[in-house]
Amino acid sequence: MNSKKLQSIINDDGAYLFQTYTRQPVSFARGEGSYLYDQDGRRYIDFLSGIAVNLLGYGHPRLLKTLHKQLDVMLHTSNLFLNSEQIAAAKLLSKTAFPGRTFFSNSGTEANEAAIKLARRHGRTVSNEKFRIISFEGSFHGRTFGAMAATGNEKIKKGFEPLMEGFTILPYNDIDSFLSVADGAKYCAVLTELIQGEGGIRPATREFASVLVETCKKHNMLLIIDEVQTGLGRTGKPFAFQHYNLKPDAITLAKGLAAGLPLGALHARTDRAGLMEKGSHASTFGGNHLSCAAARVVLEEIAKPSFFKNMSAVSAYIFDRLATLKKELAIIADIRGKGLHVGIELTRPGAPLVGAALARGLVINCTSERVLRLMPPLTVSRKTAREALDILEELLRVENGTQ
Ligand SMILES: Cc1ncc(COP(=O)(O)O)c(C=O)c1O
Repeated sequence: MNSKKLQSIINDDGAYLFQTYTRQPVSFARGEGSYLYDQDGRRYIDFLSGIAVNLLGYGHPRLLKTLHKQLDVMLHTSNLFLNSEQIAAAKLLSKTAFPGRTFFSNSGTEANEAAIKLARRHGRTVSNEKFRIISFEGSFHGRTFGAMAATGNEKIKKGFEPLMEGFTILPYNDIDSFLSVADGAKYCAVLTELIQGEGGIRPATREFASVLVETCKKHNMLLIIDEVQTGLGRTGKPFAFQHYNLKPDAITLAKGLAAGLPLGALHARTDRAGLMEKGSHASTFGGNHLSCAAARVVLEEIAKPSFFKNMSAVSAYIFDRLATLKKELAIIADIRGKGLHVGIELTRPGAPLVGAALARGLVINCTSERVLRLMPPLTVSRKTAREALDILEELLRVENGTQ
């Protein structure tokens, strides 16, 4: 795009939109497979997937066919009526995650709001004092008041006080501090990610995860796993909790659930879901026909064994290559993640590298200031991954040389 046209888009963005986002200076016009194209037809490798959303890439034939069919039929009827698309998606969640019931929302933060309400209902079955929720430093659960209060990042909450009360935020992976606080008389639930996404791709240790399970059971607290970023295959299994071999009471989902359409979900064990009676929660748009038709395709695709076969080969390739690079380049402090949820921690801020990658036709992002995050579509080929890693390696080498 010529610089005059781009500047005019940047000016209009500044004039007409809330300035709450730091946007990269590019406007994408279309996508195909794992590639994005800007308004001038310039090609970019997409190693971000709309922040872990477009997990089937762009133009997935089955997804498009299903959506076109649904578009011709109807988009929305409201939750005052039965909805076969919701039921089909919920049935698949029961099969892929665990048997239970689903409440559909429109986003991750709303899924967590529903989870917080479920947790409070659970506490009330014991006493009015059992309403507090434990969450962890470095976590991200969303931007609405409940999810924001649960989020373990002060920057996100600053200036919005008073916050919703009832949350205790503890150091992540710190068993002693958790055990010293967890008390069944006060706490109704633990809400946590098993691999912190916005927090810099930080996994829970196995020991910590099993202490959470045992303690929640012992103190009659719900264990709610936020799988908004890690769920739907991103980490190499349908859900991150399946790496830990644990049984949550509930999980929250969004991002890739409808492969690019807005959809969130709280999926809970049947007895837990029963705590929310008719009228206790609702959403006008939540679980609309179109988004749920997309979710059905996503859930069927990730149930295919061949899906993870391709993905694990690409993942192994990326992690091997990064491990070799880490031995050589001092700028790389750590490599973390699973599947196609990859974090490269640098010894310095990563934003300049994100900009340099974009200029070279590679879309990545940086979280937690120093962690480059790679989250390509789960359908990405090894050939495209090699192309992306070639660019990234070159940039890291240059950046390393300037240390
Ligand atoms: C783990 C986690 N939970 C919740 C959210 C909030 O989701 P949304 O932006 O759809 O509200 C996010 C978004 O990044 C997330 O990564």
